[in-house]
Amino acid sequence: MTGAEGGFRATVLTLYPEMFPGPLGVSLAGKALQDGAWSLETVQIRDFTTDKHRMVDDTPAGGGAGMVMKADVLARAIDHVSGGHVADGRPKLYMSPRGKPLTQARVRELAAGPGAIMLCGRFEGVDERLIEARDFEEISIGDYILSGGETAAIVILDAIVRLLPGVMGNVMSGETESFETGLLEHPHYTKPQEWEGRRIPDVLLSGNHGAIDKWRRSEAERLTKERRPDLWQAHRALLKK
Ligand SMILES: C[S@@+](CC[C@H](N)C(=O)[O-])C[C@H]1O[C@@H](n2cnc3c(N)ncnc32)[C@H](O)[C@@H]1O
Repeated sequence: MTGAEGGFRATVLTLYPEMFPGPLGVSLAGKALQDGAWSLETVQIRDFTTDKHRMVDDTPAGGGAGMVMKADVLARAIDHVSGGHVADGRPKLYMSPRGKPLTQARVRELAAGPGAIMLCGRFEGVDERLIEARDFEEISIGDYILSGGETAAIVILDAIVRLLPGVMGNVMSGETESFETGLLEHPHYTKPQEWEGRRIPDVLLSGNHGAIDKWRRSEAERLTKERRPDLWQAHRALLKK
């Protein structure tokens, strides 16, 4: 277990505990871990095998390539951390390309809760009966296939931890970020005023905060329209309500 008791509790079930905290041990997330804003426990799935070969996977029913992680081994690991079939109040998340794509709204909900139990798949994934029997929510971090769920869990935890109380220094910077307003964020600039012949837009140097807000809003709308027509449509539909 890393991090003090209290705050958001993350438990990660994995065949590769050595991948944690990994990038979560540095910068904002690492400091928050040290300060006890969240805690991280990793559980080695292989410790819950009962056979002498310590097998966590077996061949797929029906044939085909690859291996499938065994329901009985995983269930023992999960029941060990969550206290049996009755959940300990934390959502159980299975990292899965078949899951609902992660959104900033779901990240916010998770960050407001007590923590999460996260199951990282390997090989072809896990026996379907485990997902049903232990009531897992499947979450995807995007339409591509990773070699394991560990990097997905790291992505999700990174997104959650920065929203925990006291973790982000400048709270306002979070509120205008891409996806928080339903739009992509406006572009940013910093000194020097001119670099390689490119100037910071005059309006940002004008000191006129009304004009700056208006410019940022219109840039956010332009970028969203150009790059994410799906988000733009959703944003327009919300405004019409
Ligand atoms: C090689 S993948 C298995 C892919 C699976 N056979 C399929 O086609 O849906 C192994 C593990 O990586 C994780 N994984 C892969 N892609 C992911 C994604 N986009 N989001 C979240 N987890 C992912 C899952 O835990 C999965 O069980």
